[in-house]
Amino acid sequence: MSTSSKKTFYVTTPIYYVNDVPHIGHAYTTIIADTLARFHKLAGRDVFFLTGTDEHGQKIEKAAAEKGLTPKALADSVVGRAQDLWKALDIEYDFFVRTTMEVHEKGVQKLFQRLLDNGDIYKGEYKGWYCVSDENFLPDDVALDADGCKTCPDCGKKASVVSEETYFFRLSAFQDRLLKLYEEHPEFVRPQSRLNEVSSFVRGGLKDLSITRTTVKWGIPVPGDPKHTIYVWFDALHNYVTAIGFDWNTERFEKFWPADIQLVGKDILRFHAVYWPAFLMAAGLPVPKTVYGHGWWLKDDTKMSKSKGNVLDPHVLLNAFGPDPLRYFLLREIPVGQDGNFSHEGFLHRVNSDLANDFGNLVQRTLTMIGNYFGGEIPAPAPETAEDAKVRNDFDDLKGRVSGHYGACALNKALEEIWTYIGMVNKYLAENQPWIMAKNPDLRPRLARVLFQAAAAIRGASYLVYPVMPRSVEKIWGFLGETQKPADILWETLAFGDFGPGRKVGMPQALFPRVALKDFLAEEAATPAAAPAAETEPTTKGVIAMDQITYDEFKKMDLRVAQIIEAERVAGATKILKLKIDIGTEQRQMIAGIAETYAPEDLVGKKLIVIVNLKPAVIRGIESQAMLLAAITPDNKAVVPFFDREIAAGAVVK
Ligand code: MSP
Repeated sequence: MSTSSKKTFYVTTPIYYVNDVPHIGHAYTTIIADTLARFHKLAGRDVFFLTGTDEHGQKIEKAAAEKGLTPKALADSVVGRAQDLWKALDIEYDFFVRTTMEVHEKGVQKLFQRLLDNGDIYKGEYKGWYCVSDENFLPDDVALDADGCKTCPDCGKKASVVSEETYFFRLSAFQDRLLKLYEEHPEFVRPQSRLNEVSSFVRGGLKDLSITRTTVKWGIPVPGDPKHTIYVWFDALHNYVTAIGFDWNTERFEKFWPADIQLVGKDILRFHAVYWPAFLMAAGLPVPKTVYGHGWWLKDDTKMSKSKGNVLDPHVLLNAFGPDPLRYFLLREIPVGQDGNFSHEGFLHRVNSDLANDFGNLVQRTLTMIGNYFGGEIPAPAPETAEDAKVRNDFDDLKGRVSGHYGACALNKALEEIWTYIGMVNKYLAENQPWIMAKNPDLRPRLARVLFQAAAAIRGASYLVYPVMPRSVEKIWGFLGETQKPADILWETLAFGDFGPGRKVGMPQALFPRVALKDFLAEEAATPAAAPAAETEPTTKGVIAMDQITYDEFKKMDLRVAQIIEAERVAGATKILKLKIDIGTEQRQMIAGIAETYAPEDLVGKKLIVIVNLKPAVIRGIESQAMLLAAITPDNKAVVPFFDREIAAGAVVK
């Protein structure tokens, strides 16, 4: 990952599945990428930062069918959720790729054809256990469950047997070349511990990989054999080359490829560190310089994910704090390769202590004193004493080390060192007591030096922190009366105390307001809960900001009064009940996610609203032929509105 002499820098995030509402885990990868992109721009490199959405495959096909939409319509309606979140987080990507874009689809077909022509892809027959949720075949060594099925070891969901004619990628032929890559370029996989995992997986032997499906319609057709669609991972991985111009903007492609760093969560490292380089080698393209497998954000020691229902909606924090505290917290709290537990206490502690107390206060009091004692003009300083020189020299040393940390993706170390410096400057002020000096006219030259030094330290330290907290640093630079933005100044030319004569500073406004935990939690409780997984509880969807629909679209829903005739628990399930309902014209069975709020015996005879023209769904092996309407409490319980007066079952609700 040594980039010092290189003039370009290409960084990527994974492309996010479009059926998920982006959460803090997704935000994490994207914030790391944005921070690296901003740092490398400061370092004078021509940067390209790519992110986007993964829109093909069975997972999306299934999610769309559940919503009664075409997969493309589903993707179109939700792609904005990711883009809005990136905007709210001040993510400055250069291109947002969608795998449904024509340039991508054509590029993938072209690469597929290339591999077919050179014999690295061949036709055969595949039979195996497949996990729809992860879009992945299970390894052979996963044992059968008691019911004769297999469970996906990664996500814990049931897999199903898939048997079909398929095209294979000759992965087995790449084992030696991959091992050689890991050996000769250990920086290909970071951190080091992950390289060991990957290479021992490859040493264990590689089997050819089925890379087409005939059962999945929503995908890129195989060129010349369109009953096959291309496996979603073969499709998705190539976004990193198609998006920057493979086969349509050759100049840009050649300028940026191979990528300098590809950020991925550890769960998808194998795809990126084994399959991806093998696909590239087969196509005769260079492999990325580094694939960095970062850790997970956990909530109460469990990976945050939609299917576990424990995701944190970043908008709650963004509405309360703006983007920078979240950016800072996620990068400061853990090294990029490790897991971290997200807690509101931990978050607020960092915001209040590091940001409000240490950094915000330093800016506030320094600028206030310059305002009060020097009419807002940065004073011409008296010569430096040894302790003043230390503030300057320490900054110069810090700048060198921080550059190394950013370059090595050691973002928590960069921040840790900057905050040590901020602590030292706070101590310098506390020891010099400029507020006491101000009372003695003889000490005025000394006062000028101390405040000059503090202002210079703030300017320098905030510049170093700019890649992580761009919005706040631009504000600070505004308070300091800078006419340039941090992004206009190259890293190597940024010099301590480079203010110029007669520089006027403004009065600072609060940068990082302190927030009490109880106030914050009260606000969070008022925000709708995240929607739980549709597979298990289709009737308890949380309220999420949806696109507006027309009255005609609304009219498509057939809502009726239904009367509950029978209600019973479902063996092994704690959240759902099986109901028999009368909808006037017929009786139906349905599954309702209301077992945590209602006992079956309390429900019989009750009348409620159900939607009767929703496509049936199979939940825990039971067909659900209707869906009821319910309100969701902050702790994710469903409360059903029952009719409070006589009304016939089957009556229209509109
Ligand atoms: N679509 C694939 C990636 C294809 S890239 C060619 C995918 N998408 S995803 O939306 O499920 O995940 C995207 C990224 O988010 C992954 O790197 C994953 O590790 C990351 N995260 C999802 N949950 C996470 C946490 N709780 N914590 C940190 N990152 C996690 O996989």
